[in-house]
Amino acid sequence: ALAQEPLKIGLILPMTGPFASTGRQIEAAAKLYMQQNGDTVAGKKIQLIVKDDTGTADVTKRLAQELIVNDKIAVMAGFGLTPLALAPAPLATQAKVPAVVMAAATATITEASPYIVRTSFTLPQATVPMADWAAQNGIKKVATLVSDYGPGIDAEKAFTTAFTAKGGQVENLRVPLANPDFSPFLQKVADAKPDALFVFVPSGIGAQFMKQFVERGLDKSGIRLIGPGDVTDDDLLNNMGDVALGAITTQHYSAAHDSPENKAFVEAFKKANNGMRPNFMAVGGYDGMHLIYEGLKKTSGQGGQALIDAMKGMSWTSPRGPVSIDPQTRDIVQNIYVRKVERKDGELYNVEFATIPNVKDPVKAAK
Ligand code: DHB
Repeated sequence: ALAQEPLKIGLILPMTGPFASTGRQIEAAAKLYMQQNGDTVAGKKIQLIVKDDTGTADVTKRLAQELIVNDKIAVMAGFGLTPLALAPAPLATQAKVPAVVMAAATATITEASPYIVRTSFTLPQATVPMADWAAQNGIKKVATLVSDYGPGIDAEKAFTTAFTAKGGQVENLRVPLANPDFSPFLQKVADAKPDALFVFVPSGIGAQFMKQFVERGLDKSGIRLIGPGDVTDDDLLNNMGDVALGAITTQHYSAAHDSPENKAFVEAFKKANNGMRPNFMAVGGYDGMHLIYEGLKKTSGQGGQALIDAMKGMSWTSPRGPVSIDPQTRDIVQNIYVRKVERKDGELYNVEFATIPNVKDPVKAAK
């Protein structure tokens, strides 16, 4: 008899280019999950096929097409940036192949196909608690500076709406996503002297931002640094130096999250990856694999509609804390933590000091 065909997972990630850290983190996390949980699910072998889309949406789409037609994948996953998640969405719908978004975070992505499910986060989900914290902590005037594309615009809108509703004043600035030069924007902020600068840049860009923040003297200006946690991403944070100390951010994951599940995750991840610290992208990848494994167990190895249906409503304890998949929106429901960058045992961490439990994407919750 022929050997049984494996169940194939196509993991499409930016493994090269400016967003390669996202690919590296997610690939490492997916491999760790398989190492810990075996490569057999529902009696079938799991085969992970990793493809590099170089951060280019046309390439993501072509790779998804090839994986569907030639490799007959049961699931596709990864998707390191919003344009890379949107490009293959029509293919997921056409072929009825579930697509697990492990990184991209523009709110509308899950609406692009009924086969998309997300284990990362949405920017509005992470951002509204930042506006609440700022309003409650004496911050009255804020400049926002965001990368000018989906997640940045989401962050800007979510912050501005929530913060002005509480009486705050906001000035909005946008910086190009590709090869950003922050300095002219930072000069404007230095001149305007707001109480705080709210920043969104995607994972992998925070260090560049911090360097220019120091070069413009903003670290000595008294202007506080706030934002969703992408800018103080655990992949880069420890090399940013003292400039990052005191930054207040809101997000769903910190490598310093104090739970037995996270301690085990961080330790195993570092051990398997030469000491690399997992960031929020890694936890999106790890939980994405968990969702795929548990979904396949429920369907006895069937993909397609059965698999996406099995994923809806699933809940588990992630290294980030308790999570579930909203059965209506296929977005992840999770705690958002308020964190402050502190030095802990000689290393910089986002230290969580408050928790907003079970946050849904506020954009879809309002519909
Ligand atoms: C997106 C990418 C990121 O690296 C991030 O931190 C947040 C959002 C995105 O393109 O959706």
